[in-house]
Amino acid sequence: MAIERIDPWGSVLIEDYQKIIESYGMEPFNEKILKKFPKPNRLMRRFVVFGHQDLDRIADAIKNKKEFAILTGIMPSSEKLHLGNKMVVEMVKYFQEQGGEANVLVADLEALATRDISLEEAEKRAMNFHIPAYIALGLDPKKTNFYFQSKNKIVRDLAYEFSTKLTLNEFRAIYGDLNAGKIISVLTQIGDILYPQVKKSKPVVVPVGPDQSPHLRACRDVVRRYKKYNFILPSATYHKYTPSLDGSMKMSKSQPNSYISIPEDPEEVAKKMLITKTGGQKTIEEQKKLGGKPEECVIFELFKQHLIEDDDELNEIYEKCKQGKIMCGECKKKAAELMKKFMEDFNKKFKKAKEEMNKVNIMKF
Ligand code: TRP
Ligand code: SF4
Repeated sequence: MAIERIDPWGSVLIEDYQKIIESYGMEPFNEKILKKFPKPNRLMRRFVVFGHQDLDRIADAIKNKKEFAILTGIMPSSEKLHLGNKMVVEMVKYFQEQGGEANVLVADLEALATRDISLEEAEKRAMNFHIPAYIALGLDPKKTNFYFQSKNKIVRDLAYEFSTKLTLNEFRAIYGDLNAGKIISVLTQIGDILYPQVKKSKPVVVPVGPDQSPHLRACRDVVRRYKKYNFILPSATYHKYTPSLDGSMKMSKSQPNSYISIPEDPEEVAKKMLITKTGGQKTIEEQKKLGGKPEECVIFELFKQHLIEDDDELNEIYEKCKQGKIMCGECKKKAAELMKKFMEDFNKKFKKAKEEMNKVNIMKF
């Protein structure tokens, strides 16, 4: 089954990341590119970041201490985040620590055009929830530029300007089914991605989930054929989805028992760990004899993607699992404790971020 399209507004089940890399013109994130980055973070070291575009350019900028920027966006839909947002923040933070200038936008125009959420409502949600939540997940409020799409005239003007640079057939080839709201959102997002380069061309990295890759493709097409600004082709990183707790590829809000949102009640989320699918054998005897299958285990994937920072500790679990030296009950208990702690920490940091919203740099235009 070849995957031809990803619908950024729909939910998709991605079964094979290799296919995504091929269908979307990504490059694999492998040892070779990993080596070019100083102090790679957990997502990079463990190849949870699986694909990229033109990331060498960012590695070079870091190495040569040249200017570069980071840009990503938050969709102010429901007042909940998911683990994918957490990964985006971790990547922004990594690049920020390597000297990049971070820009995070609130996609209020996209929310209006694709979800009928008013600009007032989007602003309220972003100020009360999404921005403090991103800060609670680790963004440095003093070093990050936040803006609202609707307030950024440069972005909106770029969107109009780019409307002549893509044909309707190209839109259809990238996105399939379209409507006016989606078209205008794509153009706005291209404006967002190129906005850091308006004053001066520079490398820009966009850390996102693979569902956003069509937008990068459209943006890169615009850059290739529109020489007016000397834009440099934007770079991107793509991270894997966190699997659903029942073992399917991606968490879906429609199945709350298999889904972890941020925030979530710490006790409830701990309970969910106890019913999460593992790669264990049917009986303890078999597991002791044959060992478990960490590569098919959602608990292990949660350790790897989110819960265990130390590589040695993670490797030890892997080895012990393979050798039948630990049982799933033990892992589930550990995951429950770590997940509970994560939610408690988040709640604390969220509260603090809300109190410090006056220090956040929300750009005025
Ligand atoms: N479309 C993104 C989402 O649904 C939000 C977004 C808007 C964005 N502009 C962006 C993401 C630019 C990355 C870069 O979440
Ligand atoms: Fe997963 Fe741990 Fe069970 Fe191994 S022992 S399958 S890592 S839960």
